[in-house]
Amino acid sequence: MLSFLTSAGFVPSFLAVWTHVYDVAPEFVFQRPMLAPGPQSAQTGIITDPFTQLNLTAVFDVKAAASNSSDSSANFDSYGRSYPAKLLPNSSDYSFRGIEFALPSFHSSSNDALRSAGQVLNLSTAESRQYHSLHILGAVTFAPGASAVPSVANFTFHYDDGETYDATIILAPWFSPGAVFEGAIYLPYHYANPSLDSNQTIDKNNTHIHYATARIPSARNLTALTLPPSSTNIHIFAITLVQASAPDNTVATPGPARVAQIQQKTQNSDSRSWTVAWGMC
Ligand SMILES: *[C@@H]1O[C@H](CO)[C@@H](O)[C@H](O)[C@H]1NC(C)=O
Ligand SMILES: *[C@@H]1O[C@H](CO)[C@@H](O)[C@H](O)[C@H]1NC(C)=O
Ligand SMILES: *[C@@H]1O[C@H](CO)[C@@H](O)[C@H](O)[C@H]1NC(C)=O
Ligand SMILES: *[C@@H]1O[C@H](CO)[C@@H](O)[C@H](O)[C@H]1NC(C)=O
Ligand SMILES: *[C@@H]1O[C@H](CO)[C@@H](O)[C@H](O)[C@H]1NC(C)=O
Ligand SMILES: *[C@@H]1O[C@H](CO)[C@@H](O)[C@H](O)[C@H]1NC(C)=O
Ligand SMILES: *[C@@H]1O[C@H](CO)[C@@H](O)[C@H](O)[C@H]1NC(C)=O
Ligand SMILES: *[C@@H]1O[C@H](CO)[C@@H](O)[C@H](O)[C@H]1NC(C)=O
Repeated sequence: MLSFLTSAGFVPSFLAVWTHVYDVAPEFVFQRPMLAPGPQSAQTGIITDPFTQLNLTAVFDVKAAASNSSDSSANFDSYGRSYPAKLLPNSSDYSFRGIEFALPSFHSSSNDALRSAGQVLNLSTAESRQYHSLHILGAVTFAPGASAVPSVANFTFHYDDGETYDATIILAPWFSPGAVFEGAIYLPYHYANPSLDSNQTIDKNNTHIHYATARIPSARNLTALTLPPSSTNIHIFAITLVQASAPDNTVATPGPARVAQIQQKTQNSDSRSWTVAWGMC
């Protein structure tokens, strides 16, 4: 069934990330589910502009979306495959779970994705402030014949006092046989590379742009963030930071505002499954 759980390489890194997130910030990890997409302005007590959308235009280095199956200018995964632009939004404004993103221009010939490779994104003076969370739209690529596995990766946040913080995320592959992974944006197919994909121009595996989020320390001003290394195969379409001035319920957390706290964690080494119990603090 869940083949990624037994894929070599994934289990060790998955366990490592568990250990890491458990050690550093359990209260950040077990967020309650976010609100479904919908008009935020109808709610009361909501700060209207808590979102800082990083402008990645200058650092985009990949063309992810193709205008048709023979449009060779697009090459999302470095193996000639691409998203069909006609199935992607043609507007920059995109809201997912109450988080507002600036999408790239999928429908133009401009680059529309960033291959994460340890780049340092410097925030401008105006952007350098306190934030409580990172939100990204992205997807993980994989080589022909390799398993569609998620990637575990750190975004390193740099603060004005010289401190750094590693925020760990898990991001899913851009397509996978079956419907194992859910994504923010769903496409029923993508353009294949006929020479690698049995002469097919279309691959009908479920294809996605995925969402990932992490809590970050909000007591200090953020000055820069370092993206994960290229070995993670993470590609990024949009990054939004939520300002610390925004109440938690701006972006999430229906019900009691307090966060969940881990009370118990056990590992079953035979099945490699984890049992986690938590309750309200
Ligand atoms: C983003 O940056 C590019 C140049 O890198 C600029 O042309 C564009 O106007 C900027 N977009 C916004 C919304 O500021
Ligand atoms: C496919 O897209 C390319 C690049 O935009 C374009 O040159 C070509 O005419 C398109 N082909 C078809 C059949 O639409
Ligand atoms: C996408 O939006 C641009 C700018 O509004 C417009 O010129 C273009 O025709 C749109 N393309 C599609 C496929 O809707
Ligand atoms: C961020 O700043 C560093 C040091 O000034 C510089 O080397 C790097 O190119 C900058 N990154 C971007 C994306 O501008
Ligand atoms: C993320 O950073 C933490 C601590 O800085 C480290 O223990 C962990 O191994 C890193 N994870 C990855 C996937 O790099
Ligand atoms: C792909 O097409 C070529 C040329 O028509 C043919 O020789 C080859 O057998 C085909 N490959 C597959 C896997 O169908
Ligand atoms: C789904 O992807 C797998 C692995 O890349 C491939 O072998 C298969 O043909 C694809 N399935 C469809 C329906 O396109
Ligand atoms: C962050 O920067 C702003 C503007 O420079 C400043 O007013 C504020 O005090 C800083 N916050 C912290 C926690 O240093």
